[in-house]
Amino acid sequence: MAICPSSLILANYYLPLNGALGTYMEPLKQADNYDKIASHWASKNFNSDNGIEQHKRALQFVDKKEKAIDVGCGSSGRIIEILLNDGFVVEALDLSIEMLNIARQNHPDVQFYHADICKWDFPKKYDFISAWDSVWHAPLEEQENILKKLCNALVPKGVLIYTSGAVDEPGDGTNEFLGQVLYHAALGIPAILEIIKECNCICRHLENDDWPNRHLYLIIQRKNA
Ligand SMILES: C[S@@+](CC[C@H](N)C(=O)[O-])C[C@H]1O[C@@H](n2cnc3c(N)ncnc32)[C@H](O)[C@@H]1O
Repeated sequence: MAICPSSLILANYYLPLNGALGTYMEPLKQADNYDKIASHWASKNFNSDNGIEQHKRALQFVDKKEKAIDVGCGSSGRIIEILLNDGFVVEALDLSIEMLNIARQNHPDVQFYHADICKWDFPKKYDFISAWDSVWHAPLEEQENILKKLCNALVPKGVLIYTSGAVDEPGDGTNEFLGQVLYHAALGIPAILEIIKECNCICRHLENDDWPNRHLYLIIQRKNA
């Protein structure tokens, strides 16, 4: 497994890619760790504004506001709320059962899936997909497949908002957050752009939006045909 030579600092997390805490974590173990801190994302201590402007920018590119899914939705329901307000029929997915338990309380009418994005087969195509600060927790060797799955789950002209580490090379590592060990992996900007092209999609926006932290977000749109 490739290790990024430099350290990665992501929004809300410091990620030293030095393997100090081990570099691999099973998605289920990660979900178990997230279960223990699920309330943080629904509390006052969480900056729930983070990513909202970026979603608004991404939504400007959407052709039809019909079907949307929030991948790795967490507990706050904040992205679900924006999508509902924009008129989408919204679905959401997370591997942490505690995150889902809290999220369901606020949005009882939304279809939630308890699933691992690594193994998930999208049941339909979506006009908008949010994968904000979530799929970077999947193992490095799954990252390419996940990004391809996300791109291929878009309708023509559908839009994906996706975050990763702003690094040049693939890398992964673990860090501690609120007393839990969390794992992150990033493909690196060149590989991400290559996959987007391969999937018949276009990068509409790429930004290292929390400089000097290495937080990267992209707005990706599927071509019309
Ligand atoms: C940092 S939280 C972000 C939550 C939400 N996207 C937000 O921005 O408020 C990361 C979420 O990704 C979920 N997650 C991590 N690995 C996952 C996987 N393999 N499949 C599905 N969800 C996953 C976690 O359970 C957690 O709820």
